[in-house]
Amino acid sequence: MANGHRPAGDGVAMTDATRLEAITRRYPVAGGAGRFELSSTTLEIEAGSWTVITGPSGAGKTTLLQIIAGLDEPDAGRRWILGREVGPDAESTLALLRRERLGIIYQHDVFLEHLPVWENVSCRLVPAGVPARERRERARATLTELGLAGAADARPDVLSGGERQRVAVARALVGNPDLIIADEPTSQVDRETGALVVQALRRRHTAGTTVVLATHDPALMDAADRHLRLHAGGLADPGVTGAGS
Ligand SMILES: Nc1ncnc2c1ncn2[C@@H]1O[C@H](COP(=O)(O)OP(=O)(O)OP(=O)(O)O)[C@@H](O)[C@H]1O
Ligand SMILES: [Mg+2]
Repeated sequence: MANGHRPAGDGVAMTDATRLEAITRRYPVAGGAGRFELSSTTLEIEAGSWTVITGPSGAGKTTLLQIIAGLDEPDAGRRWILGREVGPDAESTLALLRRERLGIIYQHDVFLEHLPVWENVSCRLVPAGVPARERRERARATLTELGLAGAADARPDVLSGGERQRVAVARALVGNPDLIIADEPTSQVDRETGALVVQALRRRHTAGTTVVLATHDPALMDAADRHLRLHAGGLADPGVTGAGS
């Protein structure tokens, strides 16, 4: 199911919003000279919205996305991902969300280099029991959409940085996720190639998928209905109350 409201077990409508409430995340800075702290009072990402996060290097964009994706744990506060509360002990909830509902595009991606691109793209379909033939077809279709029709059988290590980045996008999209979390997904491609990534994301968004991404790319910003600016670890945005320290 793509977005909006889904019935909870007890029949009460449960929103698919993603919400961070009074979140903080602190890292000691190497050498002990200081620390990085990300904080917000409330950040709500509505189902079906497209949110862009910008801010200077080190502002905390990746940290924020990783908390939204359940890849990093806040030190304090509460978090809901697609309407499900995910606390520090919610490994099984998280595993299910990641497998079935999240599409994550990392800033620095990692592939299984000994496996062909199509296997890398479609690996998340394995636990769902999708047969190899269908996985391959779905991977090829998504790769084609991103201008990589010919790369399906190649090994990832023969591809360029920009090609690998699009493989990472394809891998996040192939399972038709409800929430796409993307960390600078066009940082290594030219404008023309980036347009393919933008189109692919727009198609999912039009179909109801929630998109949240960090970027400096105007083409991705233009598609957004909300722009969050991170300033030295705090959120400053009309939709976010009480910007952090
Ligand atoms: N695992 C970690 N351990 C210690 N410090 C960390 C860790 N991850 C991030 N940080 C620190 O948190 C701060 C924010 O980093 P983050 O990667 O979120 O920034 P960013 O806005 O994504 O930057 P960029 O634009 O360079 O990708 C930085 O000061 C960084 O050094
Ligand atoms: Mg980053």
